[in-house]
Amino acid sequence: MAGHSNHPDKHHGAHGMHHGGHQDDAAFLETNRNHWNKFAASYSSEPWQKDMLNKVNAFIYANIKWIGVDFVDPSTTFEVTDPGQAKKVRVLDYACGPGTITHALSSRATEYVGIDLSENMVQAYNLRFNSATTDANSGDEFLNAHAEVGNLLTTEEPPETFSGAKYHDFDLVVVGLGFHHFSDVRLATKRLVERLRPGGVFLILDFVTHAMEAEEHPELKATANTVAHHGFSEQELKEIFAGAGLRGFAIVRMGDEVYIRGKSKRQPFMARGSKI
Ligand SMILES: C[S@@+](CC[C@H](N)C(=O)[O-])C[C@H]1O[C@@H](n2cnc3c(N)ncnc32)[C@H](O)[C@@H]1O
Repeated sequence: MAGHSNHPDKHHGAHGMHHGGHQDDAAFLETNRNHWNKFAASYSSEPWQKDMLNKVNAFIYANIKWIGVDFVDPSTTFEVTDPGQAKKVRVLDYACGPGTITHALSSRATEYVGIDLSENMVQAYNLRFNSATTDANSGDEFLNAHAEVGNLLTTEEPPETFSGAKYHDFDLVVVGLGFHHFSDVRLATKRLVERLRPGGVFLILDFVTHAMEAEEHPELKATANTVAHHGFSEQELKEIFAGAGLRGFAIVRMGDEVYIRGKSKRQPFMARGSKI
Protein backbone atom coordinates (compact mmCIF):
# COMPACT_ATOMS: atom_id res chain seq x y z
CA MET A 1 0.00 0.00 0.00
CA ALA A 2 1.05 3.56 -0.38
CA GLY A 3 3.46 4.82 2.23
CA HIS A 4 2.79 8.43 1.50
CA SER A 5 0.89 10.94 3.46
CA ASN A 6 0.26 13.71 1.02
CA HIS A 7 0.75 17.14 2.35
CA PRO A 8 -1.77 19.22 0.46
CA ASP A 9 0.54 22.17 -0.01
CA LYS A 10 3.52 20.27 -1.29
CA HIS A 11 4.22 18.48 -4.46
CA HIS A 12 6.54 15.61 -5.04
CA GLY A 13 9.26 15.36 -7.64
CA ALA A 14 10.19 12.30 -9.64
CA HIS A 15 12.42 10.98 -6.87
CA GLY A 16 9.87 11.18 -4.11
CA MET A 17 11.30 14.47 -2.87
CA HIS A 18 8.94 17.24 -2.26
CA HIS A 19 9.61 20.89 -2.45
CA GLY A 20 7.55 23.81 -1.29
CA GLY A 21 4.99 24.98 -3.74
CA HIS A 22 1.55 26.38 -4.05
CA GLN A 23 -0.75 26.72 -6.93
CA ASP A 24 1.04 29.58 -8.62
CA ASP A 25 4.35 27.77 -8.47
CA ALA A 26 5.40 28.81 -11.95
CA ALA A 27 7.96 26.06 -12.51
CA PHE A 28 5.56 23.25 -11.62
CA LEU A 29 2.84 24.72 -13.82
CA GLU A 30 5.34 25.03 -16.66
CA THR A 31 6.38 21.37 -16.24
CA ASN A 32 2.72 20.40 -16.50
CA ARG A 33 2.09 22.64 -19.48
CA ASN A 34 5.09 21.31 -21.41
CA HIS A 35 4.36 17.70 -20.57
CA TRP A 36 0.71 17.84 -21.60
CA ASN A 37 1.50 19.86 -24.71
CA LYS A 38 3.74 17.00 -25.74
CA PHE A 39 1.14 14.31 -25.10
CA ALA A 40 -1.97 16.09 -26.39
CA ALA A 41 -1.74 14.48 -29.82
CA SER A 42 -1.26 10.95 -28.49
CA TYR A 43 -3.61 10.93 -25.50
CA SER A 44 -5.69 8.02 -26.72
CA SER A 45 -3.41 6.25 -29.17
CA GLU A 46 -1.99 3.35 -27.13
CA PRO A 47 -3.91 0.27 -25.92
CA TRP A 48 -3.46 1.15 -22.21
CA GLN A 49 -4.87 4.62 -22.87
CA LYS A 50 -7.85 3.25 -24.78
CA ASP A 51 -8.49 0.77 -21.99
CA MET A 52 -8.36 3.51 -19.36
CA LEU A 53 -10.59 5.90 -21.31
CA ASN A 54 -13.13 3.14 -22.02
CA LYS A 55 -13.26 2.22 -18.34
CA VAL A 56 -13.59 5.87 -17.28
CA ASN A 57 -16.48 6.28 -19.74
CA ALA A 58 -18.27 3.18 -18.49
CA PHE A 59 -17.69 4.23 -14.88
CA ILE A 60 -19.29 7.63 -15.50
CA TYR A 61 -22.30 6.11 -17.33
CA ALA A 62 -22.84 3.59 -14.56
CA ASN A 63 -22.98 6.37 -11.96
CA ILE A 64 -24.68 9.13 -13.89
CA LYS A 65 -27.56 9.47 -11.39
CA TRP A 66 -25.21 9.25 -8.43
CA ILE A 67 -23.46 12.46 -9.62
CA GLY A 68 -26.60 14.31 -8.57
CA VAL A 69 -26.93 16.78 -11.46
CA ASP A 70 -30.33 17.13 -13.13
CA PHE A 71 -28.91 16.32 -16.56
CA VAL A 72 -30.77 16.53 -19.86
CA ASP A 73 -32.12 13.11 -20.85
CA PRO A 74 -30.06 12.31 -23.98
CA SER A 75 -33.02 10.49 -25.54
CA THR A 76 -34.98 13.77 -25.64
CA THR A 77 -32.17 15.85 -27.14
CA PHE A 78 -33.70 15.88 -30.59
CA GLU A 79 -37.22 16.74 -29.53
CA VAL A 80 -38.31 20.15 -30.72
CA THR A 81 -38.84 22.49 -27.82
CA ASP A 82 -39.11 26.20 -27.41
CA PRO A 83 -35.46 27.25 -27.06
CA GLY A 84 -36.49 29.77 -24.41
CA GLN A 85 -38.01 27.00 -22.28
CA ALA A 86 -35.40 24.33 -22.85
CA LYS A 87 -33.54 23.06 -19.83
CA LYS A 88 -29.99 24.33 -19.51
CA VAL A 89 -27.20 22.32 -17.93
CA ARG A 90 -23.84 24.10 -17.83
CA VAL A 91 -20.59 22.25 -17.15
CA LEU A 92 -17.08 23.51 -16.44
CA ASP A 93 -14.68 20.72 -17.49
CA TYR A 94 -11.57 21.93 -15.64
CA ALA A 95 -8.17 20.55 -16.71
CA CYS A 96 -10.22 19.26 -19.62
CA GLY A 97 -7.39 17.80 -21.68
CA PRO A 98 -8.80 16.52 -24.97
CA GLY A 99 -12.29 16.30 -23.47
CA THR A 100 -12.62 12.89 -21.82
CA ILE A 101 -15.31 14.04 -19.39
CA THR A 102 -17.17 16.24 -21.89
CA HIS A 103 -17.26 13.25 -24.25
CA ALA A 104 -18.56 10.95 -21.49
CA LEU A 105 -21.36 13.34 -20.48
CA SER A 106 -22.07 14.29 -24.08
CA SER A 107 -25.61 15.57 -24.76
CA ARG A 108 -26.59 15.34 -21.07
CA ALA A 109 -25.43 18.97 -20.76
CA THR A 110 -26.26 21.90 -23.01
CA GLU A 111 -23.01 23.85 -22.60
CA TYR A 112 -19.44 22.91 -21.81
CA VAL A 113 -16.61 25.27 -20.98
CA GLY A 114 -13.22 23.58 -20.95
CA ILE A 115 -10.17 25.17 -19.34
CA ASP A 116 -6.67 23.71 -19.45
CA LEU A 117 -3.11 24.90 -18.94
CA SER A 118 -1.93 23.26 -22.12
CA GLU A 119 -2.66 25.02 -25.40
CA ASN A 120 -2.26 21.76 -27.34
CA MET A 121 -4.85 20.07 -25.14
CA VAL A 122 -7.20 23.01 -25.70
CA GLN A 123 -6.66 22.71 -29.42
CA ALA A 124 -7.37 18.96 -29.31
CA TYR A 125 -10.57 19.63 -27.32
CA ASN A 126 -11.78 22.26 -29.76
CA LEU A 127 -11.02 20.09 -32.79
CA ARG A 128 -12.96 17.26 -31.21
CA PHE A 129 -16.14 19.15 -30.44
CA ASN A 130 -16.22 22.40 -32.41
CA SER A 131 -16.60 21.13 -35.90
CA ALA A 132 -18.11 24.50 -36.87
CA THR A 133 -14.65 26.03 -36.58
CA THR A 134 -13.03 23.27 -38.63
CA ASP A 135 -14.04 21.29 -41.65
CA ALA A 136 -17.10 19.12 -41.17
CA ASN A 137 -15.20 15.88 -40.80
CA SER A 138 -12.50 16.71 -38.31
CA GLY A 139 -14.58 17.07 -35.15
CA ASP A 140 -15.86 13.75 -33.84
CA GLU A 141 -18.86 15.16 -32.00
CA PHE A 142 -21.26 18.07 -32.24
CA LEU A 143 -21.53 19.58 -28.80
CA ASN A 144 -21.82 23.12 -27.51
CA ALA A 145 -18.32 22.81 -26.07
CA HIS A 146 -15.41 25.19 -26.21
CA ALA A 147 -12.10 25.21 -24.35
CA GLU A 148 -9.69 27.98 -23.45
CA VAL A 149 -6.17 28.09 -22.12
CA GLY A 150 -5.99 29.16 -18.51
CA ASN A 151 -5.37 28.53 -14.86
CA LEU A 152 -8.02 29.41 -12.29
CA LEU A 153 -6.08 27.96 -9.38
CA THR A 154 -4.25 31.08 -8.33
CA THR A 155 -3.73 32.50 -4.85
CA GLU A 156 -4.51 36.00 -6.11
CA GLU A 157 -7.78 36.68 -7.98
CA PRO A 158 -8.08 34.48 -11.11
CA PRO A 159 -7.41 36.18 -14.48
CA GLU A 160 -9.82 38.88 -15.66
CA THR A 161 -10.57 36.87 -18.84
CA PHE A 162 -12.52 34.42 -16.69
CA SER A 163 -14.57 36.97 -14.78
CA GLY A 164 -17.67 37.05 -17.04
CA ALA A 165 -21.02 35.26 -16.59
CA LYS A 166 -19.89 32.57 -19.04
CA TYR A 167 -17.43 31.32 -16.43
CA HIS A 168 -19.78 31.31 -13.44
CA ASP A 169 -22.92 29.62 -12.12
CA PHE A 170 -22.16 26.17 -13.47
CA ASP A 171 -24.42 23.24 -12.59
CA LEU A 172 -21.37 20.98 -12.54
CA VAL A 173 -17.66 21.66 -12.18
CA VAL A 174 -15.70 18.50 -12.89
CA VAL A 175 -12.00 17.63 -12.79
CA GLY A 176 -11.19 14.37 -14.59
CA LEU A 177 -7.81 12.85 -13.73
CA GLY A 178 -6.47 16.32 -13.00
CA PHE A 179 -6.75 16.79 -9.24
CA HIS A 180 -3.49 14.93 -8.53
CA HIS A 181 -1.69 17.42 -10.78
CA PHE A 182 -2.77 20.40 -8.63
CA SER A 183 -0.24 21.31 -5.97
CA ASP A 184 -2.69 23.01 -3.58
CA VAL A 185 -5.91 21.00 -3.77
CA ARG A 186 -7.59 23.04 -1.02
CA LEU A 187 -7.09 26.26 -2.97
CA ALA A 188 -8.09 24.45 -6.18
CA THR A 189 -11.35 23.22 -4.63
CA LYS A 190 -12.14 26.68 -3.28
CA ARG A 191 -11.46 28.34 -6.65
CA LEU A 192 -13.57 25.81 -8.55
CA VAL A 193 -16.47 25.87 -6.07
CA GLU A 194 -16.57 29.66 -6.61
CA ARG A 195 -17.65 28.84 -10.17
CA LEU A 196 -20.70 26.79 -9.15
CA ARG A 197 -24.23 28.07 -8.78
CA PRO A 198 -25.78 27.41 -5.36
CA GLY A 199 -26.84 23.76 -5.42
CA GLY A 200 -24.30 22.97 -8.16
CA VAL A 201 -22.11 19.87 -7.96
CA PHE A 202 -18.34 19.61 -7.68
CA LEU A 203 -17.02 16.29 -8.99
CA ILE A 204 -13.58 14.79 -9.30
CA LEU A 205 -12.51 11.57 -10.92
CA ASP A 206 -9.11 10.54 -9.63
CA PHE A 207 -7.07 7.70 -8.14
CA VAL A 208 -7.11 6.11 -4.69
CA THR A 209 -3.88 6.71 -2.71
CA HIS A 210 -1.08 4.69 -4.28
CA ALA A 211 2.65 4.18 -4.12
CA MET A 212 4.82 5.97 -6.66
CA GLU A 213 6.71 3.20 -8.41
CA ALA A 214 10.43 3.39 -9.04
CA GLU A 215 9.99 4.76 -12.48
CA GLU A 216 12.91 3.96 -14.70
CA HIS A 217 11.15 4.44 -17.97
CA PRO A 218 11.75 8.06 -19.10
CA GLU A 219 8.10 8.57 -19.94
CA LEU A 220 6.96 7.36 -16.53
CA LYS A 221 9.43 9.77 -14.97
CA ALA A 222 8.19 12.66 -17.11
CA THR A 223 4.62 12.05 -15.96
CA ALA A 224 5.73 11.65 -12.33
CA ASN A 225 7.20 15.17 -12.49
CA THR A 226 3.73 16.56 -13.13
CA VAL A 227 2.12 14.73 -10.20
CA ALA A 228 1.59 16.58 -6.92
CA HIS A 229 -0.34 13.87 -5.03
CA HIS A 230 -0.07 10.12 -5.09
CA GLY A 231 -3.81 9.68 -5.13
CA PHE A 232 -6.26 10.57 -2.37
CA SER A 233 -7.96 8.92 0.57
CA GLU A 234 -11.66 9.24 1.31
CA GLN A 235 -10.95 10.95 4.60
CA GLU A 236 -8.75 13.69 3.16
CA LEU A 237 -11.19 14.40 0.34
CA LYS A 238 -14.10 14.59 2.73
CA GLU A 239 -12.22 17.16 4.74
CA ILE A 240 -11.07 19.16 1.66
CA PHE A 241 -14.62 19.24 0.24
CA ALA A 242 -16.12 20.30 3.58
CA GLY A 243 -13.44 23.01 3.89
CA ALA A 244 -14.64 24.49 0.58
CA GLY A 245 -18.25 24.64 1.80
CA LEU A 246 -19.49 21.51 0.01
CA ARG A 247 -22.17 19.27 1.52
CA GLY A 248 -23.49 15.82 0.65
CA PHE A 249 -20.02 14.32 0.21
CA ALA A 250 -20.04 10.91 -1.44
CA ILE A 251 -17.44 8.71 -3.05
CA VAL A 252 -17.75 5.77 -5.41
CA ARG A 253 -14.95 3.46 -6.47
CA MET A 254 -14.69 1.95 -9.92
CA GLY A 255 -14.00 -1.47 -8.44
CA ASP A 256 -11.57 -2.15 -11.25
CA GLU A 257 -8.02 -1.12 -11.97
CA VAL A 258 -6.31 0.77 -14.75
CA TYR A 259 -2.64 0.62 -15.69
CA ILE A 260 -0.78 3.81 -16.60
CA ARG A 261 1.52 2.97 -19.51
CA GLY A 262 0.60 -0.61 -18.83
CA LYS A 263 2.69 -0.55 -15.64
CA SER A 264 1.45 1.60 -12.77
CA LYS A 265 -1.71 0.18 -11.21
CA ARG A 266 -4.36 2.73 -10.22
CA GLN A 267 -7.85 2.49 -8.74
CA PRO A 268 -10.14 5.25 -10.03
CA PHE A 269 -12.91 6.76 -7.93
CA MET A 270 -15.31 9.68 -8.17
CA ALA A 271 -16.05 12.05 -5.30
CA ARG A 272 -18.82 14.64 -5.28
CA GLY A 273 -20.23 17.40 -3.11
CA SER A 274 -22.88 20.10 -3.54
CA LYS A 275 -22.52 23.82 -2.99
CA ILE A 276 -24.98 25.18 -0.45
C1 LIG B 1 -4.21 13.52 -17.06
S1 LIG B 1 -4.74 14.94 -17.95
C2 LIG B 1 -6.51 14.77 -17.77
C3 LIG B 1 -7.27 15.32 -18.95
C4 LIG B 1 -8.78 15.05 -18.98
N1 LIG B 1 -9.49 15.77 -17.93
C5 LIG B 1 -9.10 13.58 -18.88
O1 LIG B 1 -9.84 13.19 -17.96
O2 LIG B 1 -8.61 12.82 -19.72
C6 LIG B 1 -4.38 16.28 -16.83
C7 LIG B 1 -4.65 17.64 -17.44
O3 LIG B 1 -4.54 18.63 -16.39
C8 LIG B 1 -4.05 19.82 -16.97
N2 LIG B 1 -3.60 20.69 -15.86
C9 LIG B 1 -2.63 20.43 -14.96
N3 LIG B 1 -2.56 21.43 -14.05
C10 LIG B 1 -3.53 22.34 -14.38
C11 LIG B 1 -3.95 23.59 -13.84
N4 LIG B 1 -3.38 24.11 -12.75
N5 LIG B 1 -4.96 24.24 -14.44
C12 LIG B 1 -5.55 23.73 -15.57
N6 LIG B 1 -5.18 22.56 -16.13
C13 LIG B 1 -4.19 21.87 -15.54
C14 LIG B 1 -2.99 19.32 -17.91
O4 LIG B 1 -2.61 20.27 -18.88
C15 LIG B 1 -3.67 18.07 -18.51
O5 LIG B 1 -4.36 18.38 -19.70
